[in-house]
Amino acid sequence: MDERRELIVGNWKMHATHLEAIQKVQKLSYRLRPEDFARVEVVVAPAFTALRAAQLVIETDHLLIRLGAQNVHWEDEGAFTGEVSAPMLAKLNVSHVIVGHSERRAMFGETDAVVNRKVKAVARHGMHPILCVGETLEQRESGSTEEVVVGMVREGLKGVTAEVVEAAAIAYEPVWAIGTGKNADPDDAGSVAELIRDTVRSRLGEAAADGVRVLYGGSVNPGNIRAFMAKRHIDGALVGGASLDPDVFAAVVRYWI
Ligand code: PGA
Repeated sequence: MDERRELIVGNWKMHATHLEAIQKVQKLSYRLRPEDFARVEVVVAPAFTALRAAQLVIETDHLLIRLGAQNVHWEDEGAFTGEVSAPMLAKLNVSHVIVGHSERRAMFGETDAVVNRKVKAVARHGMHPILCVGETLEQRESGSTEEVVVGMVREGLKGVTAEVVEAAAIAYEPVWAIGTGKNADPDDAGSVAELIRDTVRSRLGEAAADGVRVLYGGSVNPGNIRAFMAKRHIDGALVGGASLDPDVFAAVVRYWI
């Protein structure tokens, strides 16, 4: 368990122009130390329009911050107006791609089948998918959290190899906890994280289950991150609101201090 490097991802959603992104990456880099990166892999996921600018800052200044994308199309190229492909992201040295975020599922009609194709496209181009799963409030209240989460993990990873999953991340993000200030109970999140790992183990074996990083997401902040990271099966966090301010995000990343 302890061999898994922690992974903390800032999902900037539809915030920050490329100019603002440059500032945010620079400020974040001032606040993080080499020893932080030894412990935590830090990824920021700006909007598509800011990826190139963020990449240039990261590469020019030799920063250890990694670059993430928030979405991708499942085909490598073609007549898909307005979409961005995995090869385009890979060319920008994007290392991680968030796939199946609940906002995309709810507002842009992404089904498990679409999410699965996106996971495969990301892997095909050598990047790591961050597959997002999580129940709605109604599903939680009707007692179907486990069933929903297991279903999303199975469908999302259908036909994906153990090697890909071993190096991937799965983010447990209860929909009711996202952007609401109401984080999940860390014990509950820890149990769901374990269930996610068990699901991976039963489908893809021990190495995939041991390697896959399970993140918690949903109103993570500097005050609650520690309680989540203390859970055996939680290896990191997917952070929305609290990732936009570099001071706050740095405090999340350096949660043990
Ligand atoms: P939040 O968002 O931290 O603002 O709740 C998390 C996410 O959507 O990934």
